[in-house]
Amino acid sequence: MSGVAAPAIEIDHGDCLDVLRGRAGGFADLAYLDPPFNTGRRHRAARGDYEDCWPDMGAYLEFLRARVEAVHRALKPDGSILLHCDWRACHHIRLMLDEVFGAERFVNHLVWSYGLGGSSPRRFARKHDDILFYARGAAYYFEPPRVPATSARMRGQTKKATDVIDIPTINNMAAERVGYPTQKPLALLELLVRACCPPGGVVLDPFCGSGTTLAATATLDRGALGIDVRSEAVEIARARIEESP
Ligand SMILES: C[S@@+](CC[C@H](N)C(=O)[O-])C[C@H]1O[C@@H](n2cnc3c(N)ncnc32)[C@H](O)[C@@H]1O
Repeated sequence: MSGVAAPAIEIDHGDCLDVLRGRAGGFADLAYLDPPFNTGRRHRAARGDYEDCWPDMGAYLEFLRARVEAVHRALKPDGSILLHCDWRACHHIRLMLDEVFGAERFVNHLVWSYGLGGSSPRRFARKHDDILFYARGAAYYFEPPRVPATSARMRGQTKKATDVIDIPTINNMAAERVGYPTQKPLALLELLVRACCPPGGVVLDPFCGSGTTLAATATLDRGALGIDVRSEAVEIARARIEESP
């Protein structure tokens, strides 16, 4: 026992736009956003399916932009954002982030290469998501993650990670699987939080789903605020944090 309290993890239920509008700004060191991707699909969840559908791309971007603006306000002057998306809207979202944060605040376009999934006879198989990294100001925290080196010369050593992150998606038998659709792997969130949020800092996840970011943060000496509009997500995320080591 060190006698020093661990940074707090808080989970709020509601539309993140309303929750963030009800709070003072400038509290978050890092915001990780994994919003609906506008897949046009119905996600199957244990307590009721939910839809990821908008009438068109314009309506989806309007929804997202209002919430990205609220996140921008929630960030500290040296805070940063990681916005997780895929091929459907990434190109639109990058232009929107250029407008909200400024094109000069673009830091990285990360590729999360996840491996699993089907193939197609008509195109290259889609095996990655996109994570757009912008800083709110000129100064921001970054501690390059280290990953195992692959060359024969550096066998057994580590090297600085590149903008292509190779982490397998969660398989059906994985112990960390909580049964929430679109759940992301803990290893991905641990890498991102370590790299982009200083120790003792606060991570905001306004679309927290099953609480992967919060579970990662709980083990990393950072605080967190998670928000989700679905009560099922909030219950799963709360249970997950209570069970965290
Ligand atoms: C892609 S999932 C997030 C998955 C999460 N990263 C995980 O690992 O479990 C998107 C989440 O956004 C939530 N959501 C959708 N609209 C929202 C809103 N306006 N405010 C807060 N959460 C919202 C959905 O309920 C869903 O849980």
